Amino acid sequence: PKQQTLAIIKPDAMEEHREEILGEIRAGGFSITQLKEMVLSRDLAEEFYSQHRDKPFYSQLVDFMCRGPCMMLVLTKENAVEEWRSMMGPTDPKLAQKTAPGSLRARFASDILHSALHGSSSQQHAQENIRFLFGDITSEGDLTSD
Ligand code: CMP
Repeated sequence: PKQQTLAIIKPDAMEEHREEILGEIRAGGFSITQLKEMVLSRDLAEEFYSQHRDKPFYSQLVDFMCRGPCMMLVLTKENAVEEWRSMMGPTDPKLAQKTAPGSLRARFASDILHSALHGSSSQQHAQENIRFLFGDITSEGDLTSD
């Protein structure tokens, strides 16, 4: 059965790498069922990452995510949550370069904070992430098909 996940192209990857990343997503067999570009407010970024509130990098993470436009994407595919995480590779690009050199973070992330991409970590988080950023989605349209 098809699954949905939420992907974010983060501010560090938007200027230089966004078209290449979108191309890789399509080539990977994902349908982009929703997409929007937005600059996160501090409030939204804080709430989006509220599970990391107690981590030492939380305020840097929020600053970074607000510093410019992000691309929010709902990706649909069989096993989308795992497939997208595998395509991104490990959060730390140093580890990604060792263990998954073809992965998107190995190629485009500069360090563990500036990690280029986000992907939901479970189906439940995916549904929460999608509802948080897109509200209730009623359309099943596929924005990749034109
Ligand atoms: P993301 O998958 O969006 O979810 C939480 C983010 O926190 C993660 O990507 C990284 O960008 C960031 N992050 C995780 N661990 C660290 C760390 N040790 N130092 C700085 N940033 C981190």
